Amino acid sequence: MTNLTLPNFTLENHTVWNRMLTKQMNIIEQNIDHISMHLIRWIEIAELHIDKIPNVLELSNRLEKATWRRLCDAEDPFLSHDRWFEHLAHKRFPVTNYIRTMENFEFTPLPDLFHEYFGHMPQMFQSFFADIEEKTALLHQKAITQKQKKDIFNISRRTIEYWVLRENGTEKCVWTGILSSPGDLKYFCNNWFILEDASLEKLISTPPSPHQQHSKFFVFEDLDQWDNLLEEYEKKFM
Ligand SMILES: [Fe+2]
Repeated sequence: MTNLTLPNFTLENHTVWNRMLTKQMNIIEQNIDHISMHLIRWIEIAELHIDKIPNVLELSNRLEKATWRRLCDAEDPFLSHDRWFEHLAHKRFPVTNYIRTMENFEFTPLPDLFHEYFGHMPQMFQSFFADIEEKTALLHQKAITQKQKKDIFNISRRTIEYWVLRENGTEKCVWTGILSSPGDLKYFCNNWFILEDASLEKLISTPPSPHQQHSKFFVFEDLDQWDNLLEEYEKKFM
């Protein structure tokens, strides 16, 4: 299924969006030393409305012009790994069409559209990300054993959702999970997380817990390291 539905959002839904985006941008501005210079530029390029939830059709059309990818409805908030990678391999990025409530303002265990739009879109508007996410998905589709599939899923989560980039010797936030969670973003800016240098062995042996806050994240030296890790995995284990 590749269609997109356009829900009738309530005033409260738009208010949650506005407050979330305002809060996250304020935290980012106040902690600019902890945020990747790439991410600041990417957020500008994504051009998300601050006052109301973006129209997903318009967002998808802009994404297609930027990176030849389209958004599609996530059929389920817990998409199977196979289905998730199938979408990415076919140049589709699945998005949910509901937003968290005020009660889940700081952290939502279920991915909502704030996570998809504000967390993922700044990256997805970059060809580098769109291409490497597709490359990760194609590698997953090539996997034969359950162990290979699990390893590639772990690499994917630890990069797409949770990665940290070292810029001029300092660890900077680029990851999508933190971007959409005020609690996580504050933790990161206050150095309350354990950060370790990324390696293939660490990534494949550290399964993510997507429905609870994490305490440890892996630091990448540059944007190409993700690509290099995929090639290293393919050479060693496939
Ligand atoms: Fe995500």
